[in-house]
Amino acid sequence: MAVSFKELGLVNTREMFAKAVKGGFAVPAYNFNNLEQMQAILQACVETRSPVILQVSSGARKYANQTLLRYLAQGAVEYAKEISGDGKGIPIALNLDHGDTFELCKDCVDMGFSNVMIDGSHHPYDENIELTKKVVEYAHKYDVTVEGELGVLAGIEDDVKAAEHIYTQPDEVEDFTKRTGVDSLAISIGTSHGAFKFKPGTNPKIRLDILQEIEKRIPGFCIVMHGSSSVPQHLVAKINKYGGALKDAIGIGEDQIREAVKSAVCKVNIDSDGRLAMTAAVREVLATKPEEFDPRKYLGPAREALKELYKHKNINVLNSAGQA
Ligand code: G3H
Ligand code: 13P
Ligand code: ZN
Repeated sequence: MAVSFKELGLVNTREMFAKAVKGGFAVPAYNFNNLEQMQAILQACVETRSPVILQVSSGARKYANQTLLRYLAQGAVEYAKEISGDGKGIPIALNLDHGDTFELCKDCVDMGFSNVMIDGSHHPYDENIELTKKVVEYAHKYDVTVEGELGVLAGIEDDVKAAEHIYTQPDEVEDFTKRTGVDSLAISIGTSHGAFKFKPGTNPKIRLDILQEIEKRIPGFCIVMHGSSSVPQHLVAKINKYGGALKDAIGIGEDQIREAVKSAVCKVNIDSDGRLAMTAAVREVLATKPEEFDPRKYLGPAREALKELYKHKNINVLNSAGQA
């Protein structure tokens, strides 16, 4: 039986994005696969009074089971109310990250997601339009908002490896958004997924000039930036200190994310930084307290580290603190 996101207390992204575009901030979109990640995201966003998008990838669905994740998100709404102190909580959207087929997006709409991403960016332009439009037509019937994508991020996206970025062409964005009816658009301007975004010794810069061009063509439209982890070097160093082997992990400078957020970027996807924060904390506990074997003794500190990371993002990078 289909369930509406509204019955679960979730919201779609329409209002949060309208506020973000006007207010010069971005709504954080954080991925989760388990209880501790969900708790950390909610604690950070409630404490900083930030709206939030909880994201579930296909990989997360396989790892944790789609039904359990959906119930965790439903639980998140009640959890936020409980810990917020005022009983109201914060606006929470539940997004399918990198949906690749109509059927998967439909499934998620039917099971209570409030936003779905259809990533047709690997298809030829007209096929991308056709697929995205089909998802929009279905999702909008249930007031579920939709994110599309134009341009391809280098690295691994939906299990497809792209050696080079295919930057979004500003000339296409107006036609694409009009013909598909999407509510937000993910673009490729030099970010990529994972912890190894740039070669060492280069001067990592994203193409804010392309972002500006895109904004001129579709003023006020919500732009989404994937692959926006900054790969904090203190976390990489901590992982390596306690037995890890991450060589040349490099991310996007926070100053560049801050710049992007001031303009049309109103959703920023961050996953890898959270993985680094959790891994560093777990490694530290296991290396310094080898007698511990209670998972709460390492997952607890990992959750705390994740929460601090996300608070920092909301307050100092995305400017979303206080916007709930
Ligand atoms: O876009 C990628 C996200 O970081 C999710 O990663 O597919 O390994 O869950 P995943
Ligand atoms: P990062 O790998 O940079 O955290 O990007 C995550 C992402 O884009 C999820 O869709
Ligand atoms: Zn992504």
